[in-house]
Amino acid sequence: MSLLVTGGTGYIGSHTVVELIEKGHEVVIVDNLSNSSTRVLSRIEALTGVFPTFIQADICDAKAMSDVFSQHDIEAVIHFAGLKAVGESNEIPLSYYQNNVSGSITLFEIMAKFNVKKLVFSSSATVYGENNISPLDESMATSATNPYGQTKLMIENILMDLAKSDTKWSIACLRYFNPIGAHASGTMGENPNGIPNNLLPYVAQVAVGRLAQLNVFGDDYDTPDGTGVRDYIHVVDLALGHIKAVEALNDLQGCQPINLGTGNGTSVLEIVKSFKAISGKDIPYAIVPRRVGDIATVFANADKALTLLNWKAVRDLNTMIEDTWRWQSQNPNGFE
Ligand code: NAD
Ligand code: WQD
Repeated sequence: MSLLVTGGTGYIGSHTVVELIEKGHEVVIVDNLSNSSTRVLSRIEALTGVFPTFIQADICDAKAMSDVFSQHDIEAVIHFAGLKAVGESNEIPLSYYQNNVSGSITLFEIMAKFNVKKLVFSSSATVYGENNISPLDESMATSATNPYGQTKLMIENILMDLAKSDTKWSIACLRYFNPIGAHASGTMGENPNGIPNNLLPYVAQVAVGRLAQLNVFGDDYDTPDGTGVRDYIHVVDLALGHIKAVEALNDLQGCQPINLGTGNGTSVLEIVKSFKAISGKDIPYAIVPRRVGDIATVFANADKALTLLNWKAVRDLNTMIEDTWRWQSQNPNGFE
């Protein structure tokens, strides 16, 4: 299949591009490089033997996106492009609505114009809000607690309406839980700008000596050890979920929300303990107050992905941490 991958030089996008190329799909990447670098393209080539077609463009730029569709024969789109930092979204909400929501509408309008109506969209478990009890399943009510989450929910709702308005659309909204890990080669992984917001890149940078200590946000949650529990999923399993989704689009009805998670929960202190054992490095940490907006426990019911996509996550937590550590220790400054 010939695919447009927006945000394809980013963390999840780049891992998905490798798996797509390895399965024989043709890929065109569009990315504005706001949170990634073209350095990843040669890493993709080293792994797959193919230097992917790359266009530096913004999904908000209707003319540039129209040119992409007129110059390339696109059958389906995997749409990763977006801003993703929850804290930052509280500070600059308009940028988040503009980039994520307006940008997505521009992309969908151009897809419609070129009669490309197959789409896989990067949604998030954040759309389950804070009132549902895990395991979270796709029938549960959705809500958002911050502008980033609102953008994901709004885009999902737009896609539901779009699919209702025109039955030719076939859409998978993949709700990721907590993606971590890196390519097993150690040549590609997450490369956050500045101080990481998320747990795993933070722990990895403590282990490699770039950061002094981890702050554990609260140890008084109603969980086995008092720290937050999340459903960590290997980025390569996630990438393979996208391939199953894109290949299933012909058979999907309308717009389907689908969880991509493992169904298992792991606490912050369990992550620290495993990272320490696998890396052989000390991970100094301090318990600090809870982070505003965090909830105790989030994990998926992943049954729908198995039923609809014949997909389930197979990489365990040790593999996730081993691959994170291989990437971080071999590339202490990311792609630089
Ligand atoms: P990322 O920042 O590494 O990748 C996103 C890519 O999109 C970046 O390369 C960035 O430069 C690009 N981009 C942003 N705005 C753009 C625009 N207007 N035009 C073109 N390119 C643009 O993030 P990621 O972790 O790979 O996440 C990919 C998608 O998955 C995002 O939509 C994110 O919201 C979603 N998601 C991520 C997580 C997570 O924890 N990583 C969890 C759930 C959902
Ligand atoms: C995991 C656990 C923290 C950092 C976020 C987004 C979500 C989705 C995935 C995009 C929590 C604890 C963290 C630290 C800590 N992204 N923690 N010290 O919050 O589950 O989800 O990323 O859609 O929308 O909200 O992930 O990695 O930030 O936190 O103690 O320095 O680690 O409290 O329990 P989160 P996270």
